Amino acid sequence: MAYDPAQDGAEMDFRKRMSYGDYLQIDQILTAQKPLSAAHDELLFIIQHQTSELWMKLALYELDAARAQLAADNSRAALKVLARIARIFEQLNSAWDVLRTMTPSEYTEFRDDLGQSSGFQSWQYRLIEYAVGNRNLAMLRPHEHRPDVMALLEAELARPSLYDEALRRLSRLGLAVPDAALTRDLRQPWQFDAEVMAVWAQVYRDPSRYWEAYEIAEKLVDFEDYFRRWRFNHLTTVERVIGFKRGTGGTAGTSYLKRMLEVELFPELWRVRTEL
Ligand code: HEM
Repeated sequence: MAYDPAQDGAEMDFRKRMSYGDYLQIDQILTAQKPLSAAHDELLFIIQHQTSELWMKLALYELDAARAQLAADNSRAALKVLARIARIFEQLNSAWDVLRTMTPSEYTEFRDDLGQSSGFQSWQYRLIEYAVGNRNLAMLRPHEHRPDVMALLEAELARPSLYDEALRRLSRLGLAVPDAALTRDLRQPWQFDAEVMAVWAQVYRDPSRYWEAYEIAEKLVDFEDYFRRWRFNHLTTVERVIGFKRGTGGTAGTSYLKRMLEVELFPELWRVRTEL
């Protein structure tokens, strides 16, 4: 006789109960893949982007939580959330290995069907960049046709970034974060500040005395480290698949992505290492 899990109590009748698929809205998720071509690899391409967007959704949710905990002087809770965010990016990084199995020949079969659409227009990605401090206002423009998305991006730009919240916490811990850094125009990208680097140097020279700030610093570096790896994996995958062609979004392609590799989210934290 084949094993019947019902004998062990497995529920088999969902006519009047919420099932797995009901709770998770699985039907909605599994009917959201609509390839535009007959190319075999288009489904991979769609699912890779959709799953990335789901992880980005969680990353944004956790970035909000991390900032709220820092603002509430609850660094331990913030550190736990930041560890999770770094792991989300680790997950996104591993995902490139699946996409890399698509060759240029396979991608070419459906690339024209994408039109001008590109990850460049991912508003969740832009929200993440804004949330962590890379506030380039030029990136708002592809979203002008979507007032709901613009409202989200504008609301993010009006809030302190993750780095702003970290520096505010350092200031409340008694460290001499300059006023200009604490009262800066939040809509602007963060600019390197030698006085802020001096504060981090003080922390790194005496970790046991400034343990909380030291842990915050290392978690921020950890996050940026994973985020950089995501950018690098994207660039390498793109070069492997389209070489030096222009992007569907209209940029020069790999040279644009190489330029983005130079973005530093927390510049003082990287440069302070040379000083120690
Ligand atoms: C074969 C696969 C892929 C290719 C050839 C590709 C190509 C490109 C190119 C050329 C750009 C520059 C903008 C443009 O002109 O289009 C770009 C940007 C972008 N792509 Fe991809 N991409 C691929 C997969 C992905 C995946 C799976 C994601 C995950 C969501 C993604 C997310 C992004 C994001 C967020 C940007 C904006 C980056 C920034 O502005 O810094 N891409 N992509």
